[in-house]
Amino acid sequence: MQDFLKRLPKAELHLHIEGSLEPELMFALAERNGVELPYASVEEVRAAYEFEDLQSFLDLYYQGMSVLHSADDFFDLAMDYFRRAHAEGVVHVELSFDPQAHLARGIELDVQMEGLGRARRQAERELGISTALIMSFLRDRPAAEAMRVFEQAAPYWETIDAVGLDSAERGHPPSKFSEVFARARELGIPRVAHAGEEGPAAYIREALDLLDVCRIDHGVRCLEDPALVERLREQCIPLTVCPLSNVRLKVVEHIEEHPLPELLASGLVLTLNSDDPAYFGGGVLDNYLACHRAFAWSTDIFASLARNAIEVAFMSDERRRALL
Ligand code: HPA
Ligand code: ZN
Repeated sequence: MQDFLKRLPKAELHLHIEGSLEPELMFALAERNGVELPYASVEEVRAAYEFEDLQSFLDLYYQGMSVLHSADDFFDLAMDYFRRAHAEGVVHVELSFDPQAHLARGIELDVQMEGLGRARRQAERELGISTALIMSFLRDRPAAEAMRVFEQAAPYWETIDAVGLDSAERGHPPSKFSEVFARARELGIPRVAHAGEEGPAAYIREALDLLDVCRIDHGVRCLEDPALVERLREQCIPLTVCPLSNVRLKVVEHIEEHPLPELLASGLVLTLNSDDPAYFGGGVLDNYLACHRAFAWSTDIFASLARNAIEVAFMSDERRRALL
């Protein structure tokens, strides 16, 4: 099974590129840029990754990305991830990034876009991986700021495959971002949003009704609202589920108690993803393997989950045909 899962062509639809920053690269970039880290060693960094909830993770996630300064740093970050993903049998990556988190540290959008863009082109050329870029807005910052950043990104709209919504969910409902998402819609840019990770099922409804999203990131709490589950099923709205993330952020206590089997039995379109692989104990393949150990699914189930991701990915029809 391990071999089958590794060889299965997998697409990663829910990946925060800043969350792919491994401690080794964190140290190398800290040295390159003269950044002081509050850790003495790579082991100490890893030992600090004991999270109580989403916020306790986000605190370290934002601290970790402080080592990213130049376009080369963003390039190295993304390229490092693409190489690992390629080795795991990943053929398509949709990377989210958090422009506001970098702008707040004085790192210009041009710098971020140049580094990430260069890595995407190199991954496509060297590794044969296709990629898509999702510009995510931080829901715990003002909506007006998200709108300003989105307008500032006008020169890059062509290269953005979707906009997203992430960071601390509780108390920051999708409705807060109705205007920004309406603007993206006006421009023909697709929309996705984290909802129903720590937040209630009502946030999933809002993301559908007010942000007109085509996918829900996480969405596992939809099960608290059977009518919503029926709607997601009927409208074939995919959920980008991240089982190891849900365990590490204590959305569920153990992987064996993860609602994936129930979501599957409900007939939903599901995909398996890593979220923040450097922080949550592994990449896409590790998430597939964790499900294998916990649920002993058949190869057919894993093949259909991998196929779902390719079917709903932001990629050209030509690329999709080649992968299916
Ligand atoms: N949830 C919300 N925001 C995030 C996450 C996450 O798992 N990772 C990075 N930003
Ligand atoms: Zn996420």
